[in-house]
Amino acid sequence: MEFSIKQSNSEKQRNACLVVGVFAGGKLSLAAQTLDKAAQNALSDVITQDDMTGKLATTLLLPRVAGIAAERVLLVGLGKASEFSTKQFLDVVRATFAALHKTPCKDAALYLTDLAVKGRDEAWKIKQIILLGTESAFRCDHLKSAPSAVATLKKIVLGCAEKPSSAAQTTLLQSAAIAEGMTLTKMLGNLPGNICTPTYLAEQAKKLAKTYPLKATVLEEKDMEKLGMFSLLSVSRGSREPAKFITLEYNGGDKKHAPIVLVGKGITFDSGGISLKPGAEMDEMKYDMCGAASVLGTMQAIAAMELKLNVVAIIPSSENLPDGAASKPGDIVTSMAGLTIEILNTDAEGRLVLCDALTYAAKFKPDSVIDIATLTGACVIALGHVASGLYSNDDSLASELLSASEYTQDKAWHMPLWDDYQQQLDSNFADMQNIGGRAGGSITAACFLSRFTKDYRWAHLDIAGTAWKSGKDKGATGRPVPLLTQYLINRANQK
Ligand code: BES
Ligand code: MN
Ligand code: ZN
Repeated sequence: MEFSIKQSNSEKQRNACLVVGVFAGGKLSLAAQTLDKAAQNALSDVITQDDMTGKLATTLLLPRVAGIAAERVLLVGLGKASEFSTKQFLDVVRATFAALHKTPCKDAALYLTDLAVKGRDEAWKIKQIILLGTESAFRCDHLKSAPSAVATLKKIVLGCAEKPSSAAQTTLLQSAAIAEGMTLTKMLGNLPGNICTPTYLAEQAKKLAKTYPLKATVLEEKDMEKLGMFSLLSVSRGSREPAKFITLEYNGGDKKHAPIVLVGKGITFDSGGISLKPGAEMDEMKYDMCGAASVLGTMQAIAAMELKLNVVAIIPSSENLPDGAASKPGDIVTSMAGLTIEILNTDAEGRLVLCDALTYAAKFKPDSVIDIATLTGACVIALGHVASGLYSNDDSLASELLSASEYTQDKAWHMPLWDDYQQQLDSNFADMQNIGGRAGGSITAACFLSRFTKDYRWAHLDIAGTAWKSGKDKGATGRPVPLLTQYLINRANQK
């Protein structure tokens, strides 16, 4: 989907469809009032007849309105004017795209960015429309023998009353790059384990490095052995697919500036290993590489928008399968950091690959390190599918991530990392064990990682509940690409 911003008179816009809002009680938005005048009250007449009451997120399509150049007008309900804020705006945008996709329109002009939303500026509205619009057109059925036709809606004009600011144009370009990054994240996430293997992820990283100014490096198991990554290697022992350790470097900033490192969990299928998971819904463990996919989507987005910042992506990638050679409960391994780990449950494999990646990250002398992982079922129990769990050893890093999260509405919630939880990881035989019991499972997983991140500012996002949807709408969500890219944009703007 292509987006542009245009200062224009709505009644003269020659598009397949114009979209304007109506508040509850039939009060027309400013853009709707302009159209109504040009159409000699055709819109107010419809409203008097109660065909459109202005109820939030309802829509009414009017074909061929006299006095208006566009072929159709879509009225969208905005709800009560006094209640119109962030959530309402997002609901309206979703309803708009859902209605447009039901029409044969190839293009549309949306007069929604002029609506006042409490606490939000024009750039925010533009960004949300672009991300939600792209999302609405997303299809992932290329593996069906007869894929459904692509969405007919291709071009969106964001109509506004005043000349768009240069900030608005920048947001437009950046948001399009973010939307494409999310599409990559979703495509990769949805791929099954027999296609999206560690080798496949490594190839995707190399492919990105051919298209964008990125440098890809892939370490093989032999290289990982030399580095002493025996915690990571303990996870790939049971798999016939070799583990890959992928790095992607983007140097858009000043050479003097330390990079921000993003670490993405890349388990391309998590069966649990010898601590085998139950069969029901096990297919969803193909999504256990969504951290990695979000890091790749983020790298593509920031490279495409030529962000002035240095960022490194690290992806430890492996399958987790049972086999005669697989790690067994009770096995003790030595991590790259030299700390020994008693593997009491082979299904707690994410932390085992991440800890070596976090140790490796120090090599970049990072400004900060953020890992993103579908780490624990316990996080889904704690926060559901709404918010990602955020942990950090640095309150200023946490608050910057939270503000990026609030701005994008890619929600995250700050979780505790108090020392009181650390003792749950005590082992009788090694420096630590890889599970901390049922209580506070997402927190003890973060505590485990915190033992490997003492030398730098670090944050951890547990995206187990937010990276994909189950059931009828099963599919990757592209989260937390909005949060991560916003954080990076904010950081680039600080310098
Ligand atoms: N990939 C899973 C976490 C997961 C589970 C994400 C369900 C989304 C939905 C992770 O590797 C895992 O299996 N974690 C275990 C940890 C436990 C053994 C301490 C879990 O959450 O059950
Ligand atoms: Mn697991
Ligand atoms: Zn896992």
